[in-house]
Amino acid sequence: MELNTLFILLINSIVLVNGKNIVLIIADDLDLVLDGMTPLQNTRNIIGNNGATFLNCFVASPLCCPNRASILTGRYQHNHQTFNNSLSGGCSSIKWQNTYEKHTFATILKTQKNYRTFYAGKYLNQYGTNLAGGPNHKPAGWDWWAGLIGNSKYYNYTLSVNGSAKFYGDKIKDYLTDVIAEMAVSFIRSSNNDAQPFLMVLAPPAPHAPFTPAVKHNDKFKKTKAKRTPNFNSSPQMDKHWLVRMSPSPLPHEILPKLDFIFRRRWETLLSVDDLVVTIYEALRLQKVLNNTYIIFTSDNGYHIGQFSMPFDKRQPYESDVRVPLLIRGPEIAVSQVRIPVSSVDLFDTILHIAEIKEYSDGKSVLLKNVSHDRTVLIEYKGEKSLNHHNTTCADDFDLNLYGCDKNMACKCEDSTNNTYSCIRRFSNNYNNIFCIFKDDQDYIEAYDLNKDQYQMINIGYKMNHRRRRRFRKRLNRMVKCIGSDCL
Ligand SMILES: *[C@@H]1O[C@H](CO)[C@@H](O)[C@H](O)[C@H]1NC(C)=O
Ligand SMILES: *[C@@H]1O[C@H](CO)[C@@H](O)[C@H](O)[C@H]1NC(C)=O
Ligand SMILES: *[C@@H]1O[C@H](CO)[C@@H](O)[C@H](O)[C@H]1NC(C)=O
Ligand SMILES: *[C@@H]1O[C@H](CO)[C@@H](O)[C@H](O)[C@H]1NC(C)=O
Repeated sequence: MELNTLFILLINSIVLVNGKNIVLIIADDLDLVLDGMTPLQNTRNIIGNNGATFLNCFVASPLCCPNRASILTGRYQHNHQTFNNSLSGGCSSIKWQNTYEKHTFATILKTQKNYRTFYAGKYLNQYGTNLAGGPNHKPAGWDWWAGLIGNSKYYNYTLSVNGSAKFYGDKIKDYLTDVIAEMAVSFIRSSNNDAQPFLMVLAPPAPHAPFTPAVKHNDKFKKTKAKRTPNFNSSPQMDKHWLVRMSPSPLPHEILPKLDFIFRRRWETLLSVDDLVVTIYEALRLQKVLNNTYIIFTSDNGYHIGQFSMPFDKRQPYESDVRVPLLIRGPEIAVSQVRIPVSSVDLFDTILHIAEIKEYSDGKSVLLKNVSHDRTVLIEYKGEKSLNHHNTTCADDFDLNLYGCDKNMACKCEDSTNNTYSCIRRFSNNYNNIFCIFKDDQDYIEAYDLNKDQYQMINIGYKMNHRRRRRFRKRLNRMVKCIGSDCL
């Protein structure tokens, strides 16, 4: 062996001793289908164009708390038992704290590889509320902790900073996305490059309601309107489940400017996320750790604005709601557009893979080489009810089984207890389809061939021949009970 070869080997082995740093950025309610990545130009350049852009990433559940639980644990909803955004549904509940919260990628990286860990921003919707232990509860596995109390806010919010409540007002410097970026920079600057690798999660509130942009980004997209997809503000879709069939479809004319406003305000909030990505990138570069750091960018769920004449929300099994962005840059990641289908449930194993650890998971690392292009992922959703009667003069106010009926939005409802469904989403060289069964009194089926019908105008659930439907049903019945590797 020549001397300089030996030298290179030694260098390599020294480099390998240093664990890789990981930065995971989770946007809130960021869609892919409505062009949610458009305002994130720097994010696309810094992460996507210098790494992998995943074109087919699906959520495990199209709602914040359940899918965040899937990201943290690598488990589908039926295995982590966080069914909705309430404590009773497992969201940051004491039971969650005593079980799955102790087995997130943070606790594993910390105990097995001595990572320094950092979390800032929205965690789980009920985090920090009194019945969930209040702000003193600091989830296991995190050294630096700055968890947002409750659901997304931009100003006038409280963070649990290392377990102590700290209130932020509505001065320019209190804008939550910027506060997260600033804390992240202090953490990066304090890192000891050689001794300990770090793991960071940054979870800004954007573009979730109440869609408040930073002052400097106000009205930056004043002329932008909600995307008019072919299924936008559609006439009645009689082949959809009953919640989507509720009138009025199309929406009254006066609703459309409200949807345009929400759409462009969401984009304006995202400009601060784009700033955050630049700030983090610069801090990593100055700290000289960029070449040893993976940056992952994704969202907890997608979003619809006017699709099938549903005003604005997530919770539906359509592409707008179940597809999310996923970008990853890092050592040895080739610049690429990746078509292989992946799921939010895969992020856990991806992070463990980077840290060279293997643990139980329902998903698998998206960085594995030579993976099959044929994959079926599971999407599970349990519909929410209203906790108290409303008095908004909507006809459905009396019905607690309905949720989010908004008189400003033609009294359309966002959810209902039997908007409960499971879907399998298959993606391969030949197939691109979804098959869903609702737990309503019809066991309603919706299925779409996305190769032929990208905007899901024609439900083929009852049109396909019964043998094919039986195969779908069998596969779905297996997936909803899957554990670990039999979910793959
Ligand atoms: C939070 O705790 C970590 C680890 O003990 C510490 O280094 C950091 O300075 C603390 N952050 C704040 C804002 O107190
Ligand atoms: C923050 O709270 C104060 C006091 O309640 C209120 O006056 C102000 O309008 C709030 N700011 C924002 C941006 O919501
Ligand atoms: C990463 O960059 C630093 C500083 O620029 C350098 O010392 C180190 O050798 C590089 N590491 C690798 C793995 O390229
Ligand atoms: C959340 O899920 C739990 C458990 O399934 C259920 O009891 C509760 O009613 C649900 N909450 C809402 C608001 O639907």
